[in-house]
Amino acid sequence: MSDKTALNDIIAARIAQQGRITFAAFMEACLYEPGLGYYTSSGRKVGAEGDFYTSISVHASFGRVIAREIAQMWRCMDSPPEFTLVECGAGNGRLACDIMDYLGEREPAMYGGLELVLVEREPSLEAAQAELLAAHRERVRWLTPELFYGGSFSFSGCLYSNELIDALPVHRVVMTSEGLLEIYVTIKEGELAEEVGPLSTPVIADYLQRLDIRLHPGQQAEINLAAQEWLALAARVVRQGFVLTIDYGYPAVELFAAHRNLGTLLCYHRHQVEDNPYIRLGQQDITSHVDFTSLMQRGQELGLQTLWFGEQYRFLLAAGIVEELEEVERSNAGEEEKLRLRLALKKLIMPEGGMGDTFRVLIQSHGVPNPKLLCQRRIGG
Ligand SMILES: C[S@@+](CC[C@H](N)C(=O)[O-])C[C@H]1O[C@@H](n2cnc3c(N)ncnc32)[C@H](O)[C@@H]1O
Repeated sequence: MSDKTALNDIIAARIAQQGRITFAAFMEACLYEPGLGYYTSSGRKVGAEGDFYTSISVHASFGRVIAREIAQMWRCMDSPPEFTLVECGAGNGRLACDIMDYLGEREPAMYGGLELVLVEREPSLEAAQAELLAAHRERVRWLTPELFYGGSFSFSGCLYSNELIDALPVHRVVMTSEGLLEIYVTIKEGELAEEVGPLSTPVIADYLQRLDIRLHPGQQAEINLAAQEWLALAARVVRQGFVLTIDYGYPAVELFAAHRNLGTLLCYHRHQVEDNPYIRLGQQDITSHVDFTSLMQRGQELGLQTLWFGEQYRFLLAAGIVEELEEVERSNAGEEEKLRLRLALKKLIMPEGGMGDTFRVLIQSHGVPNPKLLCQRRIGG
């Protein structure tokens, strides 16, 4: 069976016309080429039937704990009569739905003045989102990325995302005896192939320099310039409030450590991890781990204060996942539901082999004096 798809011809034609392309341009096409990219073609599914699990597909308790923290953010802003929640990269809307369900049930005063804005690059997901969020119809609206990032929209509240940054196209570099070079995608003997060359933009070298990171000879790494651009746009839009980012990744010193000699680029297809991005173009997910240090540094320059950064398990424990479990245990939910929640809890917070350690949470604030969030509580204290 051939691993080639319709995207192969499109990318090959592009290279034939303009010469080699950056890996970021290649990844952009694989994920977002209209109608053919992984996120822009039909049939992509998250969860048991799909290619990968996200924390959201594990259990609603994940969204409910985030909702607890969002309600706390609202309190830190003196419980304003109006509060806007924005989700970027909302996927099928599951997380937004779990958050809205919780706020509707538990925080009626906040819910009364709540508006949810969904921003998703793939417009066809709106139908699935609308169906899941039917009970909250009056509170939801959609903004295209063009309108959202375009400059005229701004809001007070919280902008959150789950696994958005890891899905942004990255440049790839390698340290050689000639210095830092970029990895490009070209065609050799009719097949996609890699080729190294000078950096496509000096911003890449500046990126590593600002972090004081020097790669070791032979070491490869991904540079997510799109994440920096995204944060700059996001910072402009949040008039007052919080930016909550959940993703897998590390601080820069860990991400660019010598033992990660080949970087962190990975592909997912039907729950199998694949390290070859040049097969099944548009049919496998391509991701790379997030450099949280750069998000914090850049945020600081943009006026976003880092309030909290840490592993997902710490966030979930401090923000109330045990309380969630206790409530379900006390409720008249069936034994099966209780067991499901216990297993989900284990998966979401287990440091090794679970999602608790690889996933990190970053909360930044803008214009909120002295906020005290739930995740800042000492666990078990
Ligand atoms: C890995 S998926 C995560 C979906 C969902 N948040 C989840 O956790 O299941 C990333 C999503 O972000 C969307 N996306 C990518 N770039 C975006 C951007 N700049 N603004 C909004 N959505 C974007 C993609 O279309 C895709 O649906």
